[in-house]
Amino acid sequence: MQYVNLGKTGLKVSRLCLGMMTYGAKKWREWVLEENEAKPFVKRALDAGINFFDTADVYSLGESEKVTGNLLKGMNTDGNMASDNGWVRWSRSWTAEENRHGDLLNKYLYLSGRADMKKVEITIHHLITNGFDAKVEQDPYQAMIYTSFQERATKIAHVNTGKLADKAGDDVLSRICKTIAGDEARHESAYKSFMSKIFEVDPNGAILAFEKMMKKKITMPALLMDEEKKDSLFNRFSLITEKMGIYTTFDYANIINHLTDKWKIAGITGLKDYAAKAQEYLCTLADRYRRIAERATVPAAVNPVWVRY
Ligand SMILES: [Fe+2]
Repeated sequence: MQYVNLGKTGLKVSRLCLGMMTYGAKKWREWVLEENEAKPFVKRALDAGINFFDTADVYSLGESEKVTGNLLKGMNTDGNMASDNGWVRWSRSWTAEENRHGDLLNKYLYLSGRADMKKVEITIHHLITNGFDAKVEQDPYQAMIYTSFQERATKIAHVNTGKLADKAGDDVLSRICKTIAGDEARHESAYKSFMSKIFEVDPNGAILAFEKMMKKKITMPALLMDEEKKDSLFNRFSLITEKMGIYTTFDYANIINHLTDKWKIAGITGLKDYAAKAQEYLCTLADRYRRIAERATVPAAVNPVWVRY
């Protein structure tokens, strides 16, 4: 499929566009196909790389817009988790790997005999029942930015834990951490490359999503691992990782720096006003976090959780 600029909007669209007048409600015109009948046509267009769909509120008196929205809502239009669709396959393999990381570390903790496994299990149960909101507002751009950041953060944390294990002479933990860090590096690379493509196709939208996500700050998925508001388990863990150099505010700043470099934020030209403002904000953000990191103080003692002496 060839992609061309849509006028001066900065959007790249497929040269071929699917007109959606034919899809909507039969009560408007009898030749119109309703949502279920429209599905194979829209799917064929998406499979062929078409990303340009033309609709209007007069088509089927608004029903065409609804059908367009419904059919483009997700990349897994069948809602089938066993689907062969590339995105669904990726999501399955990705979450399977993440789950195995948890299992492996859990077994390590158990066999070490140093952790209170009942507390660990209670924490995991809380984490699963409480869920997590990455605050991406169901926006796929923000979701890709969140995951690019978060996967890199996870990789860094495992690399640093591995180094501490090396220092302590724990070869098993070192090997576990390095293996997991390797997986995280692949996850990171996938999400960053998805996002690189989005920056190419829609630089204004992409940079705006990057700014939005950075303003909300990236929080790790373990945020709700207990119910405490003050002195939560997550905060205590954050202090421990900061103190031990596993994942620090400097790392946070370095990740911003890495992503702005990777997506060549400073060099993007021809942006709309709002996007140019976002660009300015993003280009100085890493330095601001570095200054915060320099001033940050960590309490002398942090109470380790789960650890048995
Ligand atoms: Fe990951």
